Amino acid sequence: MTARVVVVGSANMDLVVETPTLPRPGETVLGDGFLAVPGGKGANQAVAAARAGADCHFLGAVGLDAFGDELKGCLAAAGVGLDGLRRVAGPSGVALIAVDAAAENLIVVAPGANAHFTDLDAIDRDLIAGCDVLLCQLEIPPETVAQAVAAARRGGTTIVLNAAPARALPDELLAGVDLLVVNQTEATVLAGLDGARDPDGDGLAPADDVPMLLDTLLTRVPRVVLTLGAAGAAYAERGGLRLEVGAPPVEAVDTTAAGDAFTGALAVAWAQGRAIEESLRWACAAGAACAQHRGASSSLPVQAEIDALYDRAYQPHPTA
Ligand code: RIB
Repeated sequence: MTARVVVVGSANMDLVVETPTLPRPGETVLGDGFLAVPGGKGANQAVAAARAGADCHFLGAVGLDAFGDELKGCLAAAGVGLDGLRRVAGPSGVALIAVDAAAENLIVVAPGANAHFTDLDAIDRDLIAGCDVLLCQLEIPPETVAQAVAAARRGGTTIVLNAAPARALPDELLAGVDLLVVNQTEATVLAGLDGARDPDGDGLAPADDVPMLLDTLLTRVPRVVLTLGAAGAAYAERGGLRLEVGAPPVEAVDTTAAGDAFTGALAVAWAQGRAIEESLRWACAAGAACAQHRGASSSLPVQAEIDALYDRAYQPHPTA
């Protein structure tokens, strides 16, 4: 049966400049290429889940401007259900992004319409309760995320929270989460360890101390996926299971939305009931496929691309 995924989150128009190096505070650098492409962590993850094979719905808000039309068009073209998309007065969310020659990025978001997405109605709550997986991020007001989590709890829908961008969260919100997906920076903030140098004295800074991050986060949620960029991902759950998977090696040109591709694919694999190791590898393949292309929504892979990279990287090949 097709996995049903609902994303409650943000949509932004990404204004992207390629630059040899990222600017430091107070510095101006001259870039070269420019790209305007639909993005936003919520919309990216919705498009990622739809392209990965889910019946996916998006609850969010865009402005009554041309960017709003384009964001809506992008989601619709990916086959994402948009009955819950709000059009609100004022501008759509915008993200200013610089991408350097090493494929790393800097992002600043002006939330625009996303900040006005403050309420879920009864239809939204029924939709959430009827899906297999709810997927949220933190680019919309936390109250809306909390309402979505409560609706999912009531409906028995699995709750996946990608706690990005990094921010501290109250225990009440995290208590409802089934699976937390974070990168090392986000994990450090959620663990309350940003600013700490080496709290357990093992010579590792908190962001690099994967076992400590997992242990600390498991005191707040039952399952954690820690994304490790090109190194893959680590998983831990209360009760003991831990595993780490490597990512397929690829030539990365832009890592923007690679985490969204990973999270969207992971939500689909989870909803399909696939084993955790296979799900993590499939999600890593989605993230790696995404990093090979420029832009956010423009680089999110379809199911066949994920499968091909997964097979190439993880399936044993008979020798001739
Ligand atoms: O995760 C990448 C996304 O972060 C970009 O598309 C940008 O809009 C910001 O939300």
